[in-house]
Amino acid sequence: MNERLIITPLGPYIGAQVENIDLTRPLSDAQFEQFYHALLKHQVLFARNQPITPAQQRALAARFGDLHIHPVYPHAPDVEEIIVLDTHDDNPPDNDNWHTDVTFIETPPAIAVLASKHLPTTGGDTLWASGIAAYEALSEPFRQLLTGLQAEHDFTKSFQEFKYRKTPEEHQQWQKAKEKNPPLLHPVIRTHPVSGKQALFVNEGFTTRIVGLSEKESAAILNFLFNHVTKPEFQVRWRWQQDDIAIWDNRVTQHYANADYLPQRRIMHRATVLGDKPFYKG
Ligand code: SIN
Repeated sequence: MNERLIITPLGPYIGAQVENIDLTRPLSDAQFEQFYHALLKHQVLFARNQPITPAQQRALAARFGDLHIHPVYPHAPDVEEIIVLDTHDDNPPDNDNWHTDVTFIETPPAIAVLASKHLPTTGGDTLWASGIAAYEALSEPFRQLLTGLQAEHDFTKSFQEFKYRKTPEEHQQWQKAKEKNPPLLHPVIRTHPVSGKQALFVNEGFTTRIVGLSEKESAAILNFLFNHVTKPEFQVRWRWQQDDIAIWDNRVTQHYANADYLPQRRIMHRATVLGDKPFYKG
């Protein structure tokens, strides 16, 4: 079989579609190398027609590194590394905000693998934004101001207590997760550990404040950055079809799941690959 992947960019800054690949089966070293190279360049890759099982998705994600087990999201039966995002009227989505996955831990995920399992007849698109493009669009004096600053990331900003009170077990699980994940700091500008590129690394989902600034200064700068990163120029938008897979570099991107499909149901499966401790290197 010809192992050359067909990579078609979906825009100048972020996103590409990959063809001539079967992600349900183990990738050869040559395919993996091409895929990873494309991922670093385009930051999020999409493939159509990949009817992947939870066990296959775990194996695919594990090719990139150790997997994270989410502290509160439900998982696929027998495959605890696969999060099930099953949203409908009785379980409305909580990811219709710009966020980078799981930045509330010391080593936030490097990569995530998302598979579409059940889609509404229309709507439910996901958008990704490039933190690299957002960083590069800032003026030099503003980049200098941000360089070296640290921001706080807090589990409870997105996972609020009131959402986890349906049963005593659910509430207990949330309390345990909160205790295990106290607020922590990451650099506001992060250097990609492989490409060396700089990227903006604050996100509306989890970032609460910039350390060392007054409350008003911190709020004003974070507000600006949260808005800045969502400029359409830095984005790609994916219209899901059944059995699509998206794989993104979580170190330098944020995403937003459009919540325009209720009362219809949408089911996605996600695997999340642990990364390294974010750092800045000038
Ligand atoms: C996520 O927020 O990680 C999943 C995005 C989606 O459901 O489209």
